[in-house]
Parts: sequence; structure tokens; C-alpha cells
Amino acid sequence: MSFSPPGPSAPVAARLRGVASSPVREILALTEKPGVLSFAGGLPAPELFDHEGLGEAFAAVLAPGRAGRSLQYSTTEGDPELRRRVADRLSRRGLPTGPEELLITSGSQQALTLIAAVFLEPGDRVLVEDPSYLAALQAFQLAGAIPIPVPCDEDGIDPDAVERLVAEHRPKLLYVVPTFHNPTGRTLTEERRRALAEVMERTNLWAIEDDPYGELRYAGEPSTPLAAIPGAAERTLALSTLSKVAAPGLRIGWVRTPPSLRTPLTIAKQAADLHSSTVDQAATAHWLAHVDLDAHLGRLRHVYRERRDAMLEALPSTLPEGSTFNRPDGGMFLWVRLPEGRDATALLPRAIEQQVAYVPGAPFYATTPDPRTLRLSFTTHAPDEIREGMARLKVALA
Ligand SMILES: Cc1ncc(COP(=O)(O)O)c(C=O)c1O
Repeated sequence: MSFSPPGPSAPVAARLRGVASSPVREILALTEKPGVLSFAGGLPAPELFDHEGLGEAFAAVLAPGRAGRSLQYSTTEGDPELRRRVADRLSRRGLPTGPEELLITSGSQQALTLIAAVFLEPGDRVLVEDPSYLAALQAFQLAGAIPIPVPCDEDGIDPDAVERLVAEHRPKLLYVVPTFHNPTGRTLTEERRRALAEVMERTNLWAIEDDPYGELRYAGEPSTPLAAIPGAAERTLALSTLSKVAAPGLRIGWVRTPPSLRTPLTIAKQAADLHSSTVDQAATAHWLAHVDLDAHLGRLRHVYRERRDAMLEALPSTLPEGSTFNRPDGGMFLWVRLPEGRDATALLPRAIEQQVAYVPGAPFYATTPDPRTLRLSFTTHAPDEIREGMARLKVALA
């Protein structure tokens, strides 16, 4: 979408010129019309937020005697109690972590921006999955870097292709979402995680492991964090967030860094915003201290599993013959490929006409899009609504 605002044009930096506004945000605006059943947004279900627990947490940290501290400036690295609780959780999930290894960020999105500021010069290359998380592509492009897509299949990114592309492009970084990937829902197999760690060690390749969805597993065994595998461990920045586990409005994320990056990232964070919101961090730490997180996650997993299953059950009779789709063991997304000759972007207006929405896959590709692909999110509607939405989608795609 382009328009010429009135008045003189501002001397905007060249690095912004190549960065488009996210087409997904524009699509989401279209899908927010009343009556549309949207499978487009990657939103957690708001009815599953722990309103009560979070309300109590904010009340507690804003109570007399505590409010002064909660409303004051704070340290750049983040609330010590929050860092301790996050470190404990990561350690229990198979990634031994001390609080000093963590920098609290304003969502994991900010961690991407900070890492880009620390690593990337204009013209640098970053290897990314093909397709990849769109806002990560934006963060790298905003730093002037060039994303290089790496071939992926059902099992995630191809480590041999990574090695080949490292030799060809000498990238500064690899960016991966190995568990319940956005947009495809795919998970990198254990074998490939180890192969990728070996490639990283052989080629001294640094990686960002972005893991917002790992806790949302509905089947199978937990995946081994890339950051816990020797070879990768020494050169991986591990990001995660409470956005999908607690609530995205808190804007609490973090990056776990190898020692050499702690000071550079802290300086980048200081320059960006001094520190993340003191009161939000304090309330989140209080919430984590009082909630039974495993029981809360158990509820999320139960509800999301039912929703995923309702969508998977309806898909074979929804999609035109010759379509394919995957069956992720967790996360929020399914990935669909329509038959030869179909274009998911061109079909979207017909879907909106039928009061149903999805996100076309094309914007998630760094260079050459596959126009036949689309992403469906199953988290925000109850099974009955999902069945109704799939019936509408069938009409739109017929
Ligand atoms: C892969 C990935 N990384 C990062 C984010 C950003 O999350 P946050 O809310 O923590 O900024 C998202 C959000 O959807 C995501 O899917």
C-alpha cells in the first residue's frame, strides 16, 4: 500500500527503503471485519489468559510499600526475580541457564532488533528458513542485511544446504525457529538439530534460536534446544517469550546469550529503551511466583489440541483435491499447499466474501514465494467455529 503524505518528504534513512510494511498486518486489518471467522492472526486465545492471576500480580506490585520500586527506573538487564524465574524454567526444560545469562527484552521481537544492531552491517547476509517469520526478516532488513533463504522440508531446515550457503555467502548469522515454526508449524528433527550443531561448529556460524512456541506441545517428546547441543551451544542466542504462554500484551521476552555478547547486547538495549517496563516485569515475576505454570500450560495445551484436531479433521474435506497440509505436534499453525495453478493471495478476497480468512504464504518467503501456500491458525476459535470456518473456506477455495 503506498500513498504520498502532504508536506515535504523527510530525509528517511536508506536502510528503510527496502523494508515494506508487513503485508500480513494489512491482511489482518481486512480480516478483522465483524462476522469474519479469522484463521489469519497468530494470536493466543484471550479467554485463556489468566486475567485474575495477572490482575492480582499487578495489584500486589502496585500496593503501598511496593509501588515506589515498581514504578521506578530499573536495571537494563531486567528484574532480578524475573530473570531467576525464567532461568529456572529454561533449566527445567533442558537448557541449563543462570539469571546472569539472560537479558529481558520488550517481547522477543525486541531481542531480534537488538541482535541485528549488534551483529549486522549493511550488506551482511543472514541465513533464514524458507519461508520464515516475517517480522524477523523485517528486523534484519531494517539493519541493512540481506536475508538468504535456506531450503526446508517437512523436517525443517536442511543442514547440508546451510553448510553450502555458508560457503557461498559467508553469513553473519543463521535465524531459525526450530520448534513449531511460524508460519509452517514444522519442527526440526533431533537428528537435524545435531547435524546443524556440527555445521555451526565446523563453520563457526552463529545462530538465533527463536522459540516462542516450544511450551505449546500437544504430542510427542520435548525437542532438545539447539542452544543445549555442543557445537551450537557456544554460538547460539536463544530467544523466547511469555507472549504465547501468559499474554502478548505484557511484552516480556528474553535473550539468553553466550558471555561475549552480554555487554554489547546490554548497550544496544540501553540505547533502545533503557530497560523494559519495570512494573510489567515486576508483575510478571509475581505472577510466575504464584501461578501453577504447569497447570496453566496444561489448560492451554488441552484447549489448543482440541482446536488443532478439529481443524485437522475438517481439512481433508475442505481443501480442493491435490492440496497438502501438515500435522504439527504443537504451536499455533498449520501449513497448506493448494493444487498446481492456485494462488492463495488471489483467492483471499473470495474467502473474505465467504466471511473466513487465512494468511497467504507468499509474504513469508525472503525471495521467491510459493503462491500455492497459506497459513491457518487454529488457536482463537472453538471447534464448532472452526468447523463452520472450514465449511466457508471450502466454498471459497472450490
Ligand atoms: C517466531 C516468532 N518470533 C517472535 C515473535 C514475537 O513475539 P513477542 O510477542 O515475544 O515479541 C513471534 C510472534 O508471533 C513469532 O512467531
